[in-house]
Amino acid sequence: MSTADFVVVANRLPVDRNTDGGGDGEWRRSPGGLVTALEPVMRRTEGAWVGWPGKPDLEFEPFDFDGMHLVPVALSAADVEDYYEGFSNDTIWPLYHDVIAAPRYRRNWWEAYQRVNRRFAEAAAAVAADGGTVWVQDYQLQLVPKMLRDMRPDLTIGYFHHIPFPAYGLYSQLPWRKQVLEGLLGADVIGFQRIADAGNFARAVRRQLRYETKASGIRVPAEGGGHRTALAKAFPISISTDDYIELAQRPDIQARAAEIREDLGNPKTVLLGVDRLDYTKGIRHRLKAFGELIEDGRVSVEDATLVQVASPSRERVESYVQLRDEIELTVARINGDHDTWGHSAIRYMHQAFPREEMVALYLAADIMLVTALRDGMNLVAKEYVASRIDNRGVLVLSEFAGAADELASAVRINPHDIDGMKDAIVRAIEMPAAEQGRRMRALRKRVREHDVEDWSRAFLDALASAARSNSPAH
Ligand code: G6P
Repeated sequence: MSTADFVVVANRLPVDRNTDGGGDGEWRRSPGGLVTALEPVMRRTEGAWVGWPGKPDLEFEPFDFDGMHLVPVALSAADVEDYYEGFSNDTIWPLYHDVIAAPRYRRNWWEAYQRVNRRFAEAAAAVAADGGTVWVQDYQLQLVPKMLRDMRPDLTIGYFHHIPFPAYGLYSQLPWRKQVLEGLLGADVIGFQRIADAGNFARAVRRQLRYETKASGIRVPAEGGGHRTALAKAFPISISTDDYIELAQRPDIQARAAEIREDLGNPKTVLLGVDRLDYTKGIRHRLKAFGELIEDGRVSVEDATLVQVASPSRERVESYVQLRDEIELTVARINGDHDTWGHSAIRYMHQAFPREEMVALYLAADIMLVTALRDGMNLVAKEYVASRIDNRGVLVLSEFAGAADELASAVRINPHDIDGMKDAIVRAIEMPAAEQGRRMRALRKRVREHDVEDWSRAFLDALASAARSNSPAH
């Protein structure tokens, strides 16, 4: 098998198997942000990507696609149920998002998580060239760094955590808290979205493992005596800003934005929410605030429409099934109470749209509502800002989204405070053009000066220098 100097390991491959027409199907590039983020470095290094093809029981040999070497890791239906839906999305996801939903701790899920993490580590160990670099992505694979280091001590290993890392009081609920920390500490650099996440991690390491932590790194006992240093640090992820600017400049997409407004009945104000249908996103809180504003007579359905795009996600996990029911009931109630023949209070879409349509929606929306109860970063906030080449529009942003650390000129809200959120929405509706412009220019500056290529470069530079100082010759 061919080997690669640079290897990405992620739960998902950057392609989906399209079996719409039945039969064998074909590979299609998946729309995810991570692919776009890593594409330049994958091409530059002729890298390999280890990941799951996204459906159970798909077994494929490694293959080349669009300049990338892809190494599929097959998961059985039981693996998907216990490792992906169970441990990843019903234990770690709710625990790391401040127990907005109750995490479930099941020993057979933990068994499956270890077993599947080992398979990813083995696949990475098999494809990585001597002395190569492996970059592990996200919470589904927290044990891979240590497993991989044990198999291949010659490798430089990085890990990036895309979601929050919780405060110690919550993290310590996890029955396998020590093993997970040790798993992560197999990496030379452990990257987080926010400074607070890196701090929470370091505190958990101090309390649980009693390792010494300093700004320069964490002292980790090395196999065979001595110590190595693992660096835990914030590297806030971003988007490919230029791609959004280019899309927003396209006349067909601008025409589509005008068409969307027309289809909505040309209301004075279009508000927009775009989320995976997930309980962390605060969709219910947002609907409640908007519904009450109509109820109170502060907003009228003739003047304002809320477009809510909720893309389908993790549909076999019980908490997601319940959430969908609640959201759809709430939307139907608000619309039932307030719609007129010509105007709907809320236009709700349980669908995913291509990037072109999303940019048209961003251009059509006067107000973008990002009301997450907890979110690692929230790239939608950055996409909206990047798309507003006209320097208009208002971003209402939850302080519980990682993006709030950078996007200081947004209208900030606490989504738990419904009255505060209502006031912020009214303020956004009434905001004079000059103030919109001032805020939007500041937001756009940040997103232009810190795009996803800066993110991957900063992480990989830190990884290279950490590896140099950990090398025996140093
Ligand atoms: C979040 C996670 C990603 C995950 C994505 C979609 O952004 O950080 O790791 O891929 O959600 O979720 P899914 O379960 O469909 O992969």
